[in-house]
Amino acid sequence: MQDIIRQLEEKRARARLGGGQQRIENQHAKGKLSARERLALLLDEDSFEEWDMFVEHRCVDFGMADQRVPSDGVVTGHGTINGRLVFVFSQDFTVFGGSLSESHAAKICKIMDKAIQVGAPVIGLNDSGGARIQEGVDSLAGYAEVFQRNVDASGVVPQLSLIMGPCAGGAVYSPAMTDFIFMVEDSSYMFVTGPEVVKTVTHETVTAEELGGAITHTSKSGVADLSFENDVEALQMTRQFFDFLPSSNREQPPVRPSFDTPNREEPSLDTLVPPSPNKPYDMKELIEKVVDEKDFFEVQPNYAKNIIIGLARMEGRTVGIVANQPMVLAGCLDIDSARKAARFVRFCDCFNIPIVTFVDVPGFLPGTSQEFGGIIKHGAKLLYAFAEATVPKVTVITRKAYGGAYDVMSSKHLRGDVNYAWPTSEIAVMGPKGAVEIIFRQEAKDPEKLEARTEEYRTKFANPFVAASRGFIDDVIMPHGTRRRICASLAMLRDKKLNNPWKKHSNIPL
Ligand code: HXC
Repeated sequence: MQDIIRQLEEKRARARLGGGQQRIENQHAKGKLSARERLALLLDEDSFEEWDMFVEHRCVDFGMADQRVPSDGVVTGHGTINGRLVFVFSQDFTVFGGSLSESHAAKICKIMDKAIQVGAPVIGLNDSGGARIQEGVDSLAGYAEVFQRNVDASGVVPQLSLIMGPCAGGAVYSPAMTDFIFMVEDSSYMFVTGPEVVKTVTHETVTAEELGGAITHTSKSGVADLSFENDVEALQMTRQFFDFLPSSNREQPPVRPSFDTPNREEPSLDTLVPPSPNKPYDMKELIEKVVDEKDFFEVQPNYAKNIIIGLARMEGRTVGIVANQPMVLAGCLDIDSARKAARFVRFCDCFNIPIVTFVDVPGFLPGTSQEFGGIIKHGAKLLYAFAEATVPKVTVITRKAYGGAYDVMSSKHLRGDVNYAWPTSEIAVMGPKGAVEIIFRQEAKDPEKLEARTEEYRTKFANPFVAASRGFIDDVIMPHGTRRRICASLAMLRDKKLNNPWKKHSNIPL
């Protein structure tokens, strides 16, 4: 017995060392933590229950029979974050570069299967050179097994990916199918093919950082949602983000005690919208002044900045915020912003998170680049997402709500539950100047007449009252009372039940 216990301890010590002390030090020298150090920071103290520590690969080709490392390059199991269950895997770059073997994949699949069964989120810490080259098709099969589970888990349990090192080839497609991707600056990158392949095929010279670093993916491609300075910050922020999420689609989001009264008024909001309709203002100020304790967890802040998305709480309960940002492109909808917001709306709807939408949108961005890029299909994604969502939906129009964009932004017609407008709202087919230039074209040569027509149009439509008279707006509210009105609406909607017609699945315009 003593012998077995000694052997067990030796085996555990061997597994904990991964690819060896030297490789762990190499990892530290690059500013990266080891796979186990990362888990220690992510999870509550002493909560980690490790599985499959003794799993080894079964490859015998290319000298691999003599190179077996217990755990096979990935640490898996479950633990808690602020007391709530989470399943985790953490790839160990010190073991064959964190590459994915058949056994490595099977370990990930095991925790994913259990997460789906018990209804708990999965967080993957990715640091991997992709498919284990020595294993060939066995490794590819392993990837596909993981991909299938990513799809099975999608909409059932939240899935978060942290990219904490190189992720090449197959290593990027699993994160791509998860709900959110967070990257670490300067030490992580994601690409399907690396700079050398790019150079050979397209003759472009590009660094790994330019091709797939954190800045690229959080500002240019939109593949990643957030980037952080280092491993520690990324892990701490993941814990904060996790607190907003329900554990599964079977649960309501967690409720946290709030010290912010639902009736709090914000007089400064009465002067937020400038008198000139062409002057921008910062929509983030409105969001922060309305949500609990100004605590707004924005995602994708550096991509498609003309729309703002993120999680916050109202009366301690998680809400998803979607808002046009008049400071960027006047808040127009375009391809990137529609895609960004559509995916977020669908995430909220999957996980029973009510959506609060703030609208100031002059329309869709015109131009050949938008039309050639497929704004019709991409814009339709956001329309589709709002229309399909059955969670409570509260909408506040602060200023412009023009044309198709009015319809898209969680309007009454897309089953908005409660739709408010500030007195500064202008709900119309388009802005007064553009409208008059079209319908009174024959008077265009006479600036005085045109101005009179513009004024006539403005008086008639550039206000919330026509929409309110039709019942498309439930009430015109004072800006200072916005928080109170939203809290009251969300409280009223707490037990909302609405089902879409039965279908196998919908066919969103992809
Ligand atoms: C086996 C690998 C490996 C891999 C790295 N290693 N990648 N072993 N399979 N895919 C090993 C190295 O041999 C080395 O072992 C150790 O990990 C560290 O690698 P280095 O190259 O020294 O580290 P670094 O300079 O930091 O470069 C990291 C890297 C690079 C950028 C990830 O290793 C690399 O380019 N790897 C190959 C990436 C790749 O092409 N993967 C296959 C993609 S195809 P030692 O013993 O020296 O420490 C794919 C198909 C799936 O994934 C498709 C599904 C849809």
